[in-house]
Formats: sequence, C-alpha cells, structure tokens
Amino acid sequence: MSQDNEKRLAAETAAFKYVGNGSFKGGILGVGTGSTVNFFIDELALYRDRIKAAVSSSEASTERLRKLGIDVIDLNAAGRLDLYVDGADECDPHKCLIKGGGAALTREKIVAAASDLFVCIIDASKQVDVLGKFPLPIEVIPMARSHVAREIVARGGQPVWRDGVVTDNGNWILDVHGWRITNPVELEADLNQIVGVVAVGLFAKRPADVVIVGNREI
Ligand code: 5RP
Repeated sequence: MSQDNEKRLAAETAAFKYVGNGSFKGGILGVGTGSTVNFFIDELALYRDRIKAAVSSSEASTERLRKLGIDVIDLNAAGRLDLYVDGADECDPHKCLIKGGGAALTREKIVAAASDLFVCIIDASKQVDVLGKFPLPIEVIPMARSHVAREIVARGGQPVWRDGVVTDNGNWILDVHGWRITNPVELEADLNQIVGVVAVGLFAKRPADVVIVGNREI
C-alpha cells in the first residue's frame, strides 16, 4: 500500500471509531495539521452532525475545516477537549512523538495538553525504535535563534534554520539533526529551559494515548 493510502486509512479509521462512534457525539474536536490530518478533515464530512465545533492547530486546518462548514472556535472558549486527532513525523514504542514537520508544533502541543484523549494517525514509515532520525523541530523567538542554536550545539545537536519559514505565531524553526533520543522526556524538559525556545517538537511528557497505523490501532 502507498504511503498516502496508509495515511488515508489511518484517518478514516480514526474518524469512524473516535468521531463517528463512541462517546464523542456533540463534542468539540481538536484537529492537528498535515497531510494525514487533511485526509481526516475530509472524512469528517460524514460525521459533521456529531461535531459541535473544532479547535484547530493551524491556519491551514482552520481553512479546511471551515470549508466543510465546521465551526472553528478559540481554545479559550472551548474548555478541555474530549478528543484531539493529529499526525506525527516519528513515533516510538512508548507513543512518544516527534512533530513539527509542518511547523505547527506549538499550537499542536497546546491542543494536545488540553485534550483528554490524543489519537495519533500515521503511516508505518513513521514508526521507529528510537526517535531522532527525523530532525527535531524547535520553534524559537526570532531574536533568540543564534543563542538557542549555540545551546543545542553544546548538547551535541546540529541545528539547521528552516530559512524562510515563519510559524503561525510569527516565530522561526530550528531543525536539529544528529540526536539519537533515548530519553525523550528528559531531553524535552531540558530543551524547554533554554531561553528563547517557544516549544520543542518532542511530545514525550504528553505522548499520544492511541496510535493508529493504517487500520491498526496500537
Ligand atoms: C505538523 C505536524 C504533522 O503532524 C507532521 O509533520 C506529520 O505530517 P504528515 O501527516 O503530512 O506526514 O507535526 O507540524
């Protein structure tokens, strides 16, 4: 099966099981960002009457949701969310993730933190034993870019500025190469302490609760 078909299958499985069925009915849905999530949003057309509103992690997803007629509201008006569905760039056996390939990591992290259930939808190429082959995205305040980069080098990483990319929050992204992340919880906490870091694309303290790979739930 192609990577795109596997993404589509994961998206359809999540929409059917967690939005179309079960306890979600009438709830506010957290929606992530990326090509897998785009398949998921398209699938929501089937279940629109079960969705009261959505909280979105990016301008791109917001636009796609609104085109379907789904109301997108501010997280501050939503309270805690029952369900958040998003993709990932890498997923380890503990459901710890690297995210941020689409530069939406900060809002994704906020929505994940505010959600009771985080369902991550991926294709099999995203499954790894140890995180780090995919460069770790870090969102930084623009004036702190060089400072944060030096701190990363001091920790053995090789930061590369994603030149030309500005996040939805007006910030910049450093992609860190060369780390084999055997203790993601510890690394996430350490990187969060660097002044100028807005968010780290490691979802380890708050990993996914459920991972769907194609039509397989793990
Ligand atoms: C965006 C993300 C995405 O979830 C991640 O990049 C996966 O994207 P895709 O579904 O296109 O492979 O974290 O910031």
